[in-house]
Amino acid sequence: MLTLHTIDEVRAQVRAWKAAGLRVACVPTMGNLHAGHLRLVSVARQHADKVVASVFVNPTQFGPNEDFDSYPRTLETDREKLATAGTHLLFAPPVEEMYPGPSLTWVDVEQLGDHLCGASRPGHFRGVSTVVSKLFHIMEPDVACFGEKDYQQLAIIRRMVKDLCFAVEVVGVPTERESDGLAMSSRNGYLTPAQRAVAPQVHAHLLQARDALTSGETDFDGLVARLSGSLETHGFQVDYLQIMDAAQLIPATLESREIRVAVAARLGKTRLIDNIAVAIV
Ligand code: PAJ
Repeated sequence: MLTLHTIDEVRAQVRAWKAAGLRVACVPTMGNLHAGHLRLVSVARQHADKVVASVFVNPTQFGPNEDFDSYPRTLETDREKLATAGTHLLFAPPVEEMYPGPSLTWVDVEQLGDHLCGASRPGHFRGVSTVVSKLFHIMEPDVACFGEKDYQQLAIIRRMVKDLCFAVEVVGVPTERESDGLAMSSRNGYLTPAQRAVAPQVHAHLLQARDALTSGETDFDGLVARLSGSLETHGFQVDYLQIMDAAQLIPATLESREIRVAVAARLGKTRLIDNIAVAIV
């Protein structure tokens, strides 16, 4: 696996592969990699001849009181994991390479980024769409893999690609979980042992929501109130729990064709997110 740190080197390598007729997939990450990220690499390998992963903790998607400084940076072990997973090129730029000076240009996907995670993280999705569009311009991928765990992020990137005519096929990859159901996340490492023990309740409550909805529950507000209350009794502070229309990311109605239940809840300082698809019969 090649490791490159500059935009010019990555462009030259990707363009050489493409000139040779090879298809390129990219997997953008912020590092501290776990099996969820590596699943993206293995899906990327199914879609392309060459896989380019990026490890970049993007400052513009962190709020002033968020964990940018303390976000775990583990490049050497990330490199080993990516190489073992069959990645061909790792792009690991320093901040100055991606942001040589203050930016005046931003990519902001309106509406989709305002609520759910956007409500408690103002500017977060503007930072995500901006850095992902920069990474697309640098890595020039045919395919890009993103996790369903960050469902709102995936929807925003799909919309950005559509609205801005990026020639990139976006592939969503199912959430990788610990054996007790907890969605894998780089932030799980912040949990104390006691918090780690209750953290799987997030997924457990999503399963309860799915079961209730597939059994014909139509009182969405009542179900949300019941499940949020139950999470609070387990010690969570619920940012949101929403039964949403999967296509529009707005509260579902009885007419919604595709439903996702999404949740964000804090345990102490750690914010956990997760979501689940609900099959409508
Ligand atoms: P990061 O949190 O490192 O996640 C990188 C990618 O891995 C995202 O597409 C995310 O959805 C996916 N992912 C994380 N946990 C997963 C899991 N348990 N199962 C499956 N996929 C999972 O998301 C970001 O970084 C950043 O916002 C980024 C897109 C890189 C832009 O900076």
